[in-house]
Amino acid sequence: MKLKNLSDKKIIVSAGGTIEMLDPVRFMTNRSSGKMGVSIADAAYKAGLNTLLIAGNVDKNLLSGKKYEIIKVLSTRDMLDAVKNQLCDNALLIMAAAPADYSFKEISSVKIKKKSDELNITLVKNPDILMESSKIKQNMNFNNLILAGFAAETNDLEKYAIGKLKEKNLDLICANDVSTSESGFESDYNKITIYFKNGLKKELNMALKKDIAKFILKNIDTYLGEIDEK
Ligand code: PMT
Repeated sequence: MKLKNLSDKKIIVSAGGTIEMLDPVRFMTNRSSGKMGVSIADAAYKAGLNTLLIAGNVDKNLLSGKKYEIIKVLSTRDMLDAVKNQLCDNALLIMAAAPADYSFKEISSVKIKKKSDELNITLVKNPDILMESSKIKQNMNFNNLILAGFAAETNDLEKYAIGKLKEKNLDLICANDVSTSESGFESDYNKITIYFKNGLKKELNMALKKDIAKFILKNIDTYLGEIDEK
């Protein structure tokens, strides 16, 4: 696969869920396996691009034998720090990870004991990595930085995806329907529609994540060529 317009960009891809610790033996995460993000990093590397994977809770078998750089992180804040350290003007950030939106207000340093019938635990909102990346793009004048998000939705896919595209100030968003187990979380398959900020919409029927990955990169490459001409 030839990707002319992405050839000199640094491709930063995030994958997997993040882990929020409650105590030394308990944590909160989600069903993201990392397959989508790893497939994108694989496709980028195969296309000869400068590729970096920021991996959350991803099975080590999925990461073994990779020839590109991998940074492993635990929590959403760790993922944010890793992304912030890597962002530069000439990068494409693809956030295929599913970072936990909340973390525990207090992390106990010792195992919490089973005592009362009810246990109330307070969650606090995590920072949004794409939102923070958008702010960095603006404040640092990183005009060439391309920000790509994913939207995992169970209903009103288009409405919510376009909402996130605008709210997080992204260049594009890949909307995936995660209402069934056939595609999306954990599956080898996905079904996506890409919405670009210029109104362009590209859709692919259910396909293997490795083919979805190529479709995403190809369409971003084409989009960059088109906006360059204008
Ligand atoms: O990992 P797999 O099992 O292969 O599954 C793939 C996937 C379904 C996880 C993937 O295709 C996907 O949709 N990833 C995004 C999941 C998600 O967090 O979606 P969201 O709609 O809640 O978030 C929107 C965007 O904001 C995402 O790009 C997300 O990475 C990003 N985000 C979310 C929370 C947060 N604190 N910071 C973020 O930047």
